[in-house]
Amino acid sequence: MNKAITIQTKEYSILLGVNAGQVLDTYLETKSYSKLFVLMDENTMEYCYPVLSSDSENLLEAELLVINAGEENKSIEIATQLWESLTEEGADRHSLLINLGGGIISDLGGFVASTFKRGMDFVNIPTTLLSMVDASIGGKTGINLSHFKNQVGLFSTPKQIIIDTQFLDTLPQEQITSAYAEMLKHGLIADKKYWEELSELKQVEPKHLIRHIEKSIQIKKQIVDQDPREKGLRKTLNFGHSIGHAIESFFMESETPLLHGEAIALGMLAETYLSVEILNMPIDQLKKIEQNIRLHYSSKCIVKSQLNEIAKLVFHDKKKEGAQLNFSLLKQIGQCEINIQVTKNQILNSLKYLIHGFSN
Ligand SMILES: NC(=O)c1ccc[n+]([C@@H]2O[C@H](COP(=O)([O-])OP(=O)(O)OC[C@H]3O[C@@H](n4cnc5c(N)ncnc54)[C@H](O)[C@@H]3O)[C@@H](O)[C@H]2O)c1
Repeated sequence: MNKAITIQTKEYSILLGVNAGQVLDTYLETKSYSKLFVLMDENTMEYCYPVLSSDSENLLEAELLVINAGEENKSIEIATQLWESLTEEGADRHSLLINLGGGIISDLGGFVASTFKRGMDFVNIPTTLLSMVDASIGGKTGINLSHFKNQVGLFSTPKQIIIDTQFLDTLPQEQITSAYAEMLKHGLIADKKYWEELSELKQVEPKHLIRHIEKSIQIKKQIVDQDPREKGLRKTLNFGHSIGHAIESFFMESETPLLHGEAIALGMLAETYLSVEILNMPIDQLKKIEQNIRLHYSSKCIVKSQLNEIAKLVFHDKKKEGAQLNFSLLKQIGQCEINIQVTKNQILNSLKYLIHGFSN
């Protein structure tokens, strides 16, 4: 990506392909915040803060809030510590929180900022590919409750999102592959041609994916602009997530946790199976999706003894409405339908499909 691009949502702008420090300073010149805070995890403190602060004069005065990396820190305990730190450091409603990190930082930081003193401004500077194409956008903020994902949170939008792809230089490859799953999802639910372009990539490295960031953002933005509170259309973004979140939750406290996108990739495969079973999605499309997912996520799998436990977690998923489970499934690649009822048995079959493929 060579040139800077501005994507305007209904409430804020997303600046893509820019120098984050310079753009942050430009933003801050138009405001008069009482105090600046930067929320980071240990890795973004090490790899991203030096890059950002070397180009931003304003950050010299900022207070730094640093947490440990990892999903387990998207918790009420860490949120409480952050509210306490903000209080001790004299934050008020006219202060700004700058979220410098991946989806954990933007989810947690957005939640902490939006609830502190009934709401202070925040800006997202995503540093993972997943947060650039997905997590930092759309106004969902929140924390996990025990091992249930995103159980407590609120819709609250940042004042600006600043995307500087140089942060990807230090991001481990497994994080890039994880984000690729959410990009594939954007194609699967909304744009067949985009999915084909992505699925033709043999290697998913930043140099191949950076030019696709804008498309993913546009797809997410268009959906969220039309349905910010997830009353209808936005549910299409949940494709792969009903089962994917359950798989992610199941492995969260194990010795081999899955990255968010890795779990979603498995969830998408299981839910594509359901799409064939329930919506008569063409089976050749399932095969193409399966080939792509198994190519990039071959080492990620579940085994028979885990099926019932994962299925139980699907039923506890927050999308459960009354006695029935509603999923977002594919009519075909590029076309997603919402509020599709799925039975317990069908979910179990889709998990079995993940293990065995079509032969069993
Ligand atoms: N709010 C939403 O709409 C939404 C959407 C999708 C996902 N999410 C959430 O996002 C979270 C996952 O986000 P993520 O995948 O970005 O994970 P993450 O925030 O945990 O970041 C992944 C890892 O990369 C490290 N890191 C971040 N940037 C780096 C860089 N530039 N160089 C080196 N290391 C770096 C982090 O320290 C962490 O260890 C999950 O909690 C998920 O639920 C939210």
